[in-house]
Amino acid sequence: MVLCILLQWMQIGGKQKYPAFKPGAKYGRGYCDGQCPHDMKVSSGRANVDGWKPQDNDENSGNGKLGTCCWEMDIWEGNLVSQAYTVHAGSKSGQYECTGTQCGDTDSGERFKGTCDKDGCDFASYRWGATDYYGPGKTVDTKQPMTVVTQFIGDPLTEIKRVYVQGGKVINNSKTSNLGSVYDSLTEAFCDDTKQVTGDTNDFKAKGGMSGFSKNLDTPQVLVMSLWDDHTANMLWLDSTYPTDSTKPGAARGTCAVTSGDPKDVESKQANSQVVYSDIKFGPINSTYKAN
Ligand SMILES: *[C@@H]1O[C@H](CO)[C@@H](O)[C@H](O)[C@H]1NC(C)=O
Ligand SMILES: *[C@@H]1O[C@H](CO)[C@@H](O)[C@H](O)[C@H]1NC(C)=O
Repeated sequence: MVLCILLQWMQIGGKQKYPAFKPGAKYGRGYCDGQCPHDMKVSSGRANVDGWKPQDNDENSGNGKLGTCCWEMDIWEGNLVSQAYTVHAGSKSGQYECTGTQCGDTDSGERFKGTCDKDGCDFASYRWGATDYYGPGKTVDTKQPMTVVTQFIGDPLTEIKRVYVQGGKVINNSKTSNLGSVYDSLTEAFCDDTKQVTGDTNDFKAKGGMSGFSKNLDTPQVLVMSLWDDHTANMLWLDSTYPTDSTKPGAARGTCAVTSGDPKDVESKQANSQVVYSDIKFGPINSTYKAN
């Protein structure tokens, strides 16, 4: 199973900011995120026709000159075998259009030169060593419904915590086992440790880290939910080994084969996939869930 469920916050980039632009969020417009996507057909209230190139492996998609950026908090990216929650820093608030270097396009070798932290800092149980924690029949059993709790601690923010509730029981988040110290939540120290162990660029820190991200929480947000497949990396970053030939800590992210996740296969074999999001709650810490 290689579809991914995304639950994410983003900022308003539609009707409110661009009043001449009528359709708005109701029609799926106004989307932006920390990847500054170029594949929005309407971007910042205008058609993204300039420089539009159809995507070679997706007849419904393409990329135009305009990217649409904003900060991003991935509350939930997951499927049957793996999950992650990921905070992306960002040095600029609100939705904004980008062109050129500001977009931080990977293809142009400018991934870390844009305004957004594209990599982010992710807490993914399997990736950080808790391989028996999440999946079919595991501690958090993905064959059963679950409540996913995400807590934003501190102002300015210092920590993003996770607990699950399943079968009436509260299940604490997994603990890491392949980093310099043991962690069970997203903190600045956890993020630094993951970047050090993997050797990845610490763009999260460079773009303002947890305290920088905290400022974004003072502005209006939009909750976005989707079910998607991945025409760029076949979702291997979530549920397989990625980079596919790496044996470094953090490369193994799940049990899927490195050959899995091709959208051609996903769309033909798993076309009936569905997800149910229900009982969505916001509230003071610990008020949104209880054990039975
Ligand atoms: C779960 O975490 C809380 C602290 O957040 C702790 O008090 C409790 O003992 C933990 N439960 C288990 C089973 O480890
Ligand atoms: C929330 O619950 C956890 C675990 O039971 C506890 O450790 C923590 O202090 C509580 N936080 C607040 C703000 O009540």
